Amino acid sequence: MSDPKPKSSGTPSAASSELDPDLLDKIRALKEKYGTTGQDLPAYLEGLLYTDYLNYWDYIHLDALLGLQTPRTEFPDEMVFIVYHQTTELYFKLVRWEQEQLADDPHLTAETFLMRLERMNRYFKILITSFEVMVEGMEPAQFRKFRMALLPASGFQSVQYRLIELASTDLINLVNRDQREGLRGASLEAMYQEVYWKRGATELATGDETLTLQHFERKYRDELLRTAHRFQEKNLWQKYLTLDVDDVQRETVKVAMRAFDLSVNVTWPMAHLRSAGKYLHREPEVIAATGGTNWQKYLPPRFQQRIFFPELWEESERSAWGTRAMSNEKRNGYVASSEETSPKSD
Ligand code: HEM
Repeated sequence: MSDPKPKSSGTPSAASSELDPDLLDKIRALKEKYGTTGQDLPAYLEGLLYTDYLNYWDYIHLDALLGLQTPRTEFPDEMVFIVYHQTTELYFKLVRWEQEQLADDPHLTAETFLMRLERMNRYFKILITSFEVMVEGMEPAQFRKFRMALLPASGFQSVQYRLIELASTDLINLVNRDQREGLRGASLEAMYQEVYWKRGATELATGDETLTLQHFERKYRDELLRTAHRFQEKNLWQKYLTLDVDDVQRETVKVAMRAFDLSVNVTWPMAHLRSAGKYLHREPEVIAATGGTNWQKYLPPRFQQRIFFPELWEESERSAWGTRAMSNEKRNGYVASSEETSPKSD
């Protein structure tokens, strides 16, 4: 095979007489950049002659992206279910992206903190308001059938959801609420043993750990513990404590912190719970379609009492967490209101 021809030709001396000074400056700068690492700039420039222009579809890997949906059944609405989960995971990735940058910023200012927090709030607002895609966007009869083909997989196994939690707050706040006092000051390993989500994966019939949880722990336990250690001193709450801010700034940041707490721990869970309320009946045999979990006793935020920043809430607010009284708080402007009316089970 013969070498492909360069895409244009011309002698360097003829070309350089036509080059404008800006371009020459750029070439000099490039020469310096490549020279410092001993690289041969003309060789790289020749490579450019053979390189194709970048296309949109290659840049965002469109073909790969659109090939990532592999339904397990022939029910058309399974596609809606898959794509919406994938979309959610991408937004979770964006939230984590901000959390990582906040954690590793050695000169964090109140402005940067607020800017990143507001980005995260925006992402969650999109997830909350778009949950209707799940609640209204699939035929229940199809859902109940294709869901059976996915067992024992569950959104419960979304590791990014757990990573967001670990990067937001001290681990003690993710411990079962009746065990928090006893474990204050304990090792992260001891706290992790009693992390709240394990109770969500208990088999209704036997009280045993579900297969869903066993698989999840086997795959992610080490990563989750590593993350708990990594964020122990630099989760959102710890970073908030380090901010050097005046009272006005602190108030603005506090409002954004509360909005984040509500979005992740009340409003999103309520939007999600509505879908469980809609699609999963309450008779034991149909509950079994979720992997047999105790989801009705587990998912409602008022039972979980997950609060990332308890210090930013009054006692009365904490005790109303996840209840209808709390919903009024939302309408008072802490977080974008969605249609998260409680399902009947709440
Ligand atoms: C029709 C739609 C949905 C239904 C009926 C549903 C149902 C459930 C149920 C019953 C559980 C409890 C665990 C279990 O029994 O498996 C659960 C947990 C969970 N699901 Fe979904 N889900 C839906 C959509 C989603 C979506 C789109 C996501 C996005 C990633 C998601 C993420 C989660 C997470 C993170 C948990 C754990 C929540 C926690 O620990 O508090 N779910 N889901």
